[in-house]
Amino acid sequence: MPLITRSPDTGVWLLTTPRTSYALRIDETGAPCHVAWGPRLTPGEADALAAPFAEPSNSFEGRPAVGEELPVDGGTRYGPPSLQVRYADGSRAFEWEPAGHRVDDSVPACEELVLEFRDRVVPLSVALHYRVRADTDVIERWTVLRNDGDERVDLLRADSAAWTLPPLADYRLSHVTGQWSAETRLHRERLPHGETVLTSRRGITSHHANPWTMLDDGTADEDRGRVWSTALAWSGSWRITVQRTPDGRAGLTGGVGHEGTRVPLAPGEEFTTPVAAGLFTDGGFGAASRAWHAYVRTHVLRHADETAPVLYNSWEATGFDVDEASQLALAERAARLGVELYVVDDGWFGARRSDRAGLGDWTPAPDRFPDGLRPLSDAVHRLGMRFGVWVEPEMVNPDSDLYRAHPDWVLHLPGRPRSELRNQLVLNFARQDVADWAFGWLTRLVAEHRVDFLKWDMNRVFGESGWPGQEDGNDRLWTRYVHHLYGVLDRLRAARPELRIETCSGGGGRVDLGILARTDQAWTSDNTDAVDRLGIQQGFSQVYPARVMSAWVTDVPNQLTRLSVPLSFRFHVAMAGLLGIGGDLTRWSEEELAEAAGLVARYKEIRHLVQHGDQYRIGDPYGDGTSAVQYAAPDGSEAVVLAFRAGPRHGSPRVPLRLRGLPPGVRFRDTATGAVHHATVLTEYGLDVGLPSGDWASALIHLERVPETTR
Ligand code: DGJ
Repeated sequence: MPLITRSPDTGVWLLTTPRTSYALRIDETGAPCHVAWGPRLTPGEADALAAPFAEPSNSFEGRPAVGEELPVDGGTRYGPPSLQVRYADGSRAFEWEPAGHRVDDSVPACEELVLEFRDRVVPLSVALHYRVRADTDVIERWTVLRNDGDERVDLLRADSAAWTLPPLADYRLSHVTGQWSAETRLHRERLPHGETVLTSRRGITSHHANPWTMLDDGTADEDRGRVWSTALAWSGSWRITVQRTPDGRAGLTGGVGHEGTRVPLAPGEEFTTPVAAGLFTDGGFGAASRAWHAYVRTHVLRHADETAPVLYNSWEATGFDVDEASQLALAERAARLGVELYVVDDGWFGARRSDRAGLGDWTPAPDRFPDGLRPLSDAVHRLGMRFGVWVEPEMVNPDSDLYRAHPDWVLHLPGRPRSELRNQLVLNFARQDVADWAFGWLTRLVAEHRVDFLKWDMNRVFGESGWPGQEDGNDRLWTRYVHHLYGVLDRLRAARPELRIETCSGGGGRVDLGILARTDQAWTSDNTDAVDRLGIQQGFSQVYPARVMSAWVTDVPNQLTRLSVPLSFRFHVAMAGLLGIGGDLTRWSEEELAEAAGLVARYKEIRHLVQHGDQYRIGDPYGDGTSAVQYAAPDGSEAVVLAFRAGPRHGSPRVPLRLRGLPPGVRFRDTATGAVHHATVLTEYGLDVGLPSGDWASALIHLERVPETTR
């Protein structure tokens, strides 16, 4: 059955995914209008929802502020525009004139609808793209704008897509906020009337907000309820405007850039927005997250089927104090624990002995690595591990040979100060020569030092964002920077197909669907306190899967929070994602090393569930009782539960953990204790995890289905 059909009666386009429908049509004025987004519809049912165009009800209204597929600034529209253009004569308008459509079904199990339009007066064309697939309810949308005239056009706002919700009794917005070392704090807030703007003006996705939204009617919970969610595949400045209108409708529009930025379109030039993805689910926030996770693993990541290795990272152990001997000592201990990938963090190059100098000079420091990185890389490989290094290609310390040679390579505005953050400036990746330089040294580094893994960091946000000497440079750089960043990553991966890359921006400052399409995992946060991580990981998991969520076990008291929690608790928190170790292993006792080796081995037994299974969040990590994350095999054969509890309060009820995602009627065996449980009891009555008393107790329970014959 085709995924995209058009009604011969009403002209309604019906997009069909496994469990949902999305419908739109071109109305009598030529504008693309929303019809439906939600549970599956037949073509006839979708036709019935297509309301005819209605003239404004009075002279103070215009076209409805919510309900168009890409509201433009033009005519009698007064909501936030997705598309706002300014022509050479200063006028700002766009009038939809349909110019054709096509459906591309050349890729199996995937169809793409393209609706083409042009302005009725100025030669500017707009194409709306919709992609649906047979194995996901996620709908991808983007817009292509082309200046067909011979005068420049400015795109003051060029969003990827607008999304319309059905009329609901109330609206609630879920989203995350944060800051450095406190990313992805989850909020579920009643949507206020008016416009709510979620944005980053920092040139990166940012720690402070993340470009996804979930909307529901205020009654959804983790297991029940309808949720409409969206996510933007973009790693630069972005803006999403969520709107609740006086007449009780809600919708949102989102795309690249923040207010005040514009995308210039020279004659003949085309601009393709990044993808905005939308997903309707009926099954609460848990179902929404699982659908996003599956989509990211299947359609965003390139190597999600691989088992991600247990890594060691030197940052918290050594800081900038990096040399061959101390790294080797750590690597030997890491190998004993079962670590499979050893990563040398910041400090291995140039004059980098602190964050004040050396950034940009990407040759191994001769005083600390007299023969380069190769001896360490070879030793790590001999120990049976892969070898990774930290890089920060987009940055430069003013105290560096690179900056002395190329002071014009940074973002700057002539005659104004160059504000430093962390003693560094941003290299202007929008410049082709800068991007080519980065690609050149990165490919050499990877080849010459047998590097298997890069941790690609980005440690400051934009400032004095200028590109002197380039026409429209100050406007173009916001998008071209990101396109060139993507280009370097794409070229690098094409040149070194075995290379794996971790995205990092002072922790989780650049995690989004755009960067995840070019990397393999993400450093979640510089905050490695296991207790804080419970909340950070809960927020991260709303859209992004455990398959990319890098988490380290570090020393106590924690460097940032000074909190001390048991080693097993720290491991169990990190085992909920991609397990890594970041403590100073030379200071761990033999008992700690033995316990750690056991926990690494345990992780290897269950990581296929964490990395490839379905995730269920159970309970509130900061509540009174026990909370958990559970990962279940999609075929119902296995599950792992990571359970956590803060200090117990005397007299608090012991509420068993009701597990999820287990097929009813079968039994499971606890692989550690041999205890056999009925799945129905586990899901309907719960599992008494029996956490030990004391602060910050945790447990890992691995359940395997008992074969029917032995029941
Ligand atoms: C920020 C990262 O998030 C840290 O893990 C570490 O790599 C430092 N940068 C190094 O400067």
